[in-house]
Formats: sequence, C-alpha cells, structure tokens
Amino acid sequence: MRTKTLSALCLSVLMASPVALAHQQGDWIIRGGLTSVAPDESASNITAGGSDLGVSLTIDNNTQLGLNIAYFVTDNINIELLAATPFTHDVNFSLPDPLTTGNKLGEVTHLPPTLTANYYFNNPDSAFQPYIGAGINYTFIFDEEFTDANSDAGLSDLSLDNSFGLSAQVGMDYNIDKKWHVNASVRFIDIDTEASFNVGDAKGSVDSIEIDPWVYTVSVGYTF
Ligand code: NI
Repeated sequence: MRTKTLSALCLSVLMASPVALAHQQGDWIIRGGLTSVAPDESASNITAGGSDLGVSLTIDNNTQLGLNIAYFVTDNINIELLAATPFTHDVNFSLPDPLTTGNKLGEVTHLPPTLTANYYFNNPDSAFQPYIGAGINYTFIFDEEFTDANSDAGLSDLSLDNSFGLSAQVGMDYNIDKKWHVNASVRFIDIDTEASFNVGDAKGSVDSIEIDPWVYTVSVGYTF
C-alpha cells in the first residue's frame, strides 16, 4: 500500500513538474544580477596632427548591475531586453604613454541596451532550459575623458561615436520552481566606434576601434 502510494507520487512528480517548469507563451521574466563587459578590442593607431603615433589602445573590463526583461511570444521564443547600470572602462595606451608616466589614457562610459530574440529548446525532462539568441545593440558612449596627467600634457575634447550593431548569445535558465530561476548567459556584441580629440591645437583621431566585447551575465530571474 505504502509502496503503491509512493510510486504513484513519484510518477505524478515525474509527469507534472518538468512540464510545469518550462516557460510558456505569455510569461514575463525579470532578472537582476551581474553583467561583465570584457572588450576583445582591436584598434587602429592613434594619429595626431596628421602623423601616426605608432601607438594603439586597449580597453579594460568592467562589471555592473545587469537587468533583463523578457516576454515569451510563443512557448519557445522570447524577446529580451538587456539593460544595465553604466559601464566605465579604463582606456590605456598599448605601449607606455608617450606623454606621461604610466599607460592610462583616460576613461569612457557606455550603456549597451540590447534587444534579442531567443529560442528555447524547452527540454521537458530537465530543470535546465538552454537557449540561443540573436539581436541588435545600440551602444551610447559618453563621459569620455583623459586622465588629469594627459589633460595637463595637452590632450582635450575626447569623443567616441555611438555604435549600432548585431549581437548573439547562448544562455541557460536553471528552474528552481515555477517562479524562480538562476540564469547564465554569454553574448557577443559587435561594437565599433572611432575617437576624435585635440592635441593642443592639432586634431587627433583613432579611425577604427573595434570594441567587440564578450558580455557575461549571471542573474536570478522571476517569472510572472
Ligand atoms: Ni566589430
């Protein structure tokens, strides 16, 4: 009798819970966590007053609070918006700074909102729900500034263009229950820009800066 009840219970758990854990059309998900932007940059050399300085740029990583909201248009497809608090990255010379000691050139801040369509495989037998997605990104770049030392050395008016490009990602939800899940994703964003600045009275520029970051997010999500 007890064995029968137990096996009936096990059967009902096996049959009921995995189906209930898959996302469904009409679900909204909100996630909060940490998002890290790790540039995989390549930049052309800095030119100033028409001459190539023979030095390029590197851009450091930065981690911020990541926010994410998604809506399931079908059981398998959601539309997701990635938002975050602004990322501030150190920008360094690729060689020791020709103007000052050290190699830090300045800092830039950006916001990279990204709209993505994701496809969920909806494995009914698992709490793991992997997905792949593709989308578009617009990166607002602002608060570009040289270090004090570089400003004192005559550099001013640093400006980087905003960027519009494609993104792609893979991710996974681990469903704890019907409402809560843990999420991890890795995305690539094509972010290309160019920089302009002044060196004393002369114009300077970096004509091609491919920031092209890998963006890692770990978050906790809630479905409603
Ligand atoms: Ni690129």
